Amino acid sequence: MTQHLYIVTGASRGMGEAIAEQLLVRGHRLLGISRRTNSQLAQRAHAAGADFEQWEADLTQAGAAAARLQAWFSGLSADRFASATLINNAAALTRIGPIDNVASDELAMAVRVGLEAPVLMTAAFLRATHGWATQRRVLNISSGLGRRAMAGQASYCAVKAGLDHFTRALALDEAQHPNGARVVSLAPGVIDTDMQVQLRSADAAGFPELANFQALKDKGLLTSPADAAARVLGYLNRADFGANPVADVRDN
Ligand SMILES: NC(=O)c1ccc[n+]([C@@H]2O[C@H](COP(=O)([O-])OP(=O)(O)OC[C@H]3O[C@@H](n4cnc5c(N)ncnc54)[C@H](OP(=O)(O)O)[C@@H]3O)[C@@H](O)[C@H]2O)c1
Repeated sequence: MTQHLYIVTGASRGMGEAIAEQLLVRGHRLLGISRRTNSQLAQRAHAAGADFEQWEADLTQAGAAAARLQAWFSGLSADRFASATLINNAAALTRIGPIDNVASDELAMAVRVGLEAPVLMTAAFLRATHGWATQRRVLNISSGLGRRAMAGQASYCAVKAGLDHFTRALALDEAQHPNGARVVSLAPGVIDTDMQVQLRSADAAGFPELANFQALKDKGLLTSPADAAARVLGYLNRADFGANPVADVRDN
C-alpha cells in the first residue's frame, strides 16, 4: 500500500501541532521535527494507525538537521509513497523591540530557525526526492509580516520576506524539471498560539502595535490552531497548489 509522506517542522506546539494532529490518519507517514517531542501526538498516531516519528532537533543547527533528513530519506523507497510534502512551519520571534535592544544570539536564532533552516531542509528534501515520480510539495509557512513591515520585530519581518522571495525563486527552478516540486509560501492568518502571547506580553516601548495585538485577542479575532491548520491543509490540497508561489489562506 502506498502512503502520503509529510515532514512538519515545529510540530510540537501551536499551529504545527494542529497540522500534525490533522495529518495523523491511516495511510499517512509523518515526521515531526522540533526541540521537544509531543506525547499526545504519539498517542493519537497510535490510535489512528498512522506511521509517526518525532525528532528532537534544534533548527538553529540547520545543517545537522538537513543532513539527518537526507540520510533518513536514503532508507525510504520512493515507490512506497503517493506524495511527499515538506512543511517548513517552525519559526521564532525575538524579544519584541528594536534590534539594538536584542542580543545578537537571539537575532541569529530567529534568522536560523525561520530562514536558514527552511532553505537547508528544502534543499535536502529536493535532493533526496529528486528522482521520485510522485507529487512533491514544499509549503513554507510565512506571515503577513513578510509583506507588511512592523516596528519591533524587524528580524521576523526579514525572515518571512526572505522566505517569500526564496519560494518565488525556488518555483522558477522547480518549473524547469519535468516533475519539479510545487512550492508555496503561505501566510496562515493570525493564530491563538504562544507567538501571540509573546506579542501581547511585550513592553509597549518600542512596540507601537501592542494595542492592536491585545485587541485581536480581546475581540476574539484570533483563529484557533485547529482552524488555522485546517485552512493551511485545505490550501495544500488545492489542485492549483503552486500556481501562485506566495499566497495567503485568506485569498479566495
Ligand atoms: N501565531 C500567529 O499569529 C502567526 C501569524 C502568522 C504566521 N505565523 C507562523 O506560523 C508558524 C507557526 O507559528 P505558531 O504561532 O504555531 O508558533 P509557536 O506556537 O511559537 O510554535 C513554534 C513551533 O516551532 C518550534 N521551534 C521553535 N524554535 C525551534 C528550534 N530552535 N528548533 C526546532 N523547532 C523550533 C517549536 O517547537 P519547540 O519549542 O519544541 O522547539 C514549536 O513547535 C510560524 O512559522 C509562524 O511564523 C504565526
